[in-house]
Amino acid sequence: MNAIETQELTYTYSKGTPFEKTAVDRVTLAIEKGSYVGVIGHTGSGKSTLIQHFNGLLQPTSGKVLVGGQDIWADKSKLRQFRFQVGLVFQYPEYQLFGETVYSDIAFGPGNMGLNPDEINQRVHQSARFVGLTEDQLQKSPFELSGGQKRRVAIAGVLAMDPEVLILDEPTAGLDPKGRDQILGEIREYHEEKKNTILLVSHSMEDIARYANRALVMNHSHLFAYDTVEGIFSRAEELSAMGLAIPQVSRVFLELSRRGAPVSPNVYTVDQAVRELLGKLEKGGDKK
Ligand SMILES: Nc1ncnc2c1ncn2[C@@H]1O[C@H](COP(=O)(O)OP(=O)(O)O)[C@@H](O)[C@H]1O
Ligand SMILES: [Mg+2]
Repeated sequence: MNAIETQELTYTYSKGTPFEKTAVDRVTLAIEKGSYVGVIGHTGSGKSTLIQHFNGLLQPTSGKVLVGGQDIWADKSKLRQFRFQVGLVFQYPEYQLFGETVYSDIAFGPGNMGLNPDEINQRVHQSARFVGLTEDQLQKSPFELSGGQKRRVAIAGVLAMDPEVLILDEPTAGLDPKGRDQILGEIREYHEEKKNTILLVSHSMEDIARYANRALVMNHSHLFAYDTVEGIFSRAEELSAMGLAIPQVSRVFLELSRRGAPVSPNVYTVDQAVRELLGKLEKGGDKK
């Protein structure tokens, strides 16, 4: 079962003007339910434009977008439903906070869905817990919080809608490494618990390696590839030609394996590398 499909999806900004720009060009893909997809590509490759189609924020210039097998533009009166099904956290979402309290900000989405107050209350608390916001913080003004905490409020607001597909557009941009790891760790836990579909737009190949099981690569408005992370990283040279460097440790293991060393070519993190090497050493020891 596919969570999201596109068929020859094309989007052109400012069509018919001198500023015309085709940002997504005939993209066809199918994202399986339950995947955790890393979306990568150079700046301006079309990532943000592509994902804004998945919940109907942008309407294709041509081609189709299907959510759960249904064309989301087939019947405009149903569009709202798809917007609840596919939650989108924008880049720098903290600029869109407006609630008097953190609580009311997070409650906005579920309120829009017409849920009853008990259900809303439960969802606000649950999603606040997911992103590590305290009860105390729920009663504060979002503007009293730090940058990282504001970002968490915005993410919690989308989680509270309990979307089947959660899309995050560079959710850690501008955060320090600690805040970055925390937020990505929280999203991973959320994915493991909910088993829903996640799309994470990221600049960091390390993050894709660590968290995603699929990768979608955009290059100059075209889909370069959609595959398992292993499959994508094995094309290191093509990626680096488009300015996307795979993690250093991956390059080392890919090259070792190419030269005939008995190691896995699919190592993406230093932790994995340590385990891989220790495993080999132990096996080697047995033989003696
Ligand atoms: N609102 C807009 N109007 C006109 N052109 C845009 C707009 N938004 C993005 N673009 C252009 O579309 C292309 C893809 O942009 P975008 O989807 O934001 O890429 P990415 O998210 O990969 O950086 C870029 O050339 C960008 O300049
Ligand atoms: Mg973008």
